[in-house]
Amino acid sequence: MNINDSTNNRVLAAIELELQEQIIKEEFEHIQKNKHSNSLWGHSERVAITAERLGLGEGLDPTVCRLAGLFHDAGKFCGGSYHKGDKPEEKRSVEVLRKLTRGKGIATNLVDQVEESILQLYRQDPDQTLLTKVLYDADNLDKLGLLGIANYFVKIGLRGSGLSSSVLHKATVELTYARHAPDCLTTETGREIARKRAPKTITFFRQLLDSLREDGLFDFRIKEVVFNNLLLDVVTPALCKCGHQFSQKISEVPGIKCSEIHLAHICHSCQSNYELRFCRPRLIE
Ligand SMILES: [Fe+2]
Ligand SMILES: [Zn+2]
Repeated sequence: MNINDSTNNRVLAAIELELQEQIIKEEFEHIQKNKHSNSLWGHSERVAITAERLGLGEGLDPTVCRLAGLFHDAGKFCGGSYHKGDKPEEKRSVEVLRKLTRGKGIATNLVDQVEESILQLYRQDPDQTLLTKVLYDADNLDKLGLLGIANYFVKIGLRGSGLSSSVLHKATVELTYARHAPDCLTTETGREIARKRAPKTITFFRQLLDSLREDGLFDFRIKEVVFNNLLLDVVTPALCKCGHQFSQKISEVPGIKCSEIHLAHICHSCQSNYELRFCRPRLIE
């Protein structure tokens, strides 16, 4: 029997597809059986430690900083789901804080300060307390530097994704945040840490993309794009699978918690497209 190349390729592609379905299905069944995650708890602990450190630099009571860090995300998966109902997660976090501190002899005024900081966290009040600023910086520092990179990949894994092209597209957000981080944090102590960590994020993603390109796995480039007075580091494939170039369409849309940047990569030849949404970094003037 003489099978020509194109038949061969078609047969291989069909086998690959069948194998892909099977591997994804079986891995999913395996994950379902071993389901547990301490990722949010780990984040809460780290934010508490960082908040204490920032608080010391800013002259705040470490206990109040620690409590703010521990409880700031406590309402995130309320009832086992993310963003269920229309009650904001901060309100639920505060309910957990009240419930767990009640009758334990913690000064009410201390709990009040923590409550205020959690409620203020993602409101753009002009009159944020120093504790809110410390909490905001501690939360954001968890995404920066080598720790931030490790957290980025853990989060992607928890959402069921491996190292794929969509993960590389999302590096746009990591790079753009890292570039602006020192100007987005709200305390001098936080900015100082950001200035040390941000270059590590940037170097890592540049080197990762270079190495994937050299290895012939993915060819993604970083393009600096100015949009609405903001410099973005857009990570995009050099070419679409069909061989044509992608063009980018960027817009800014008001979201629930922030002003959202919508970034679309569109191939006008084969209509492939990839969309990414993220909060515009909030620069402190
Ligand atoms: Fe957080
Ligand atoms: Zn295409």
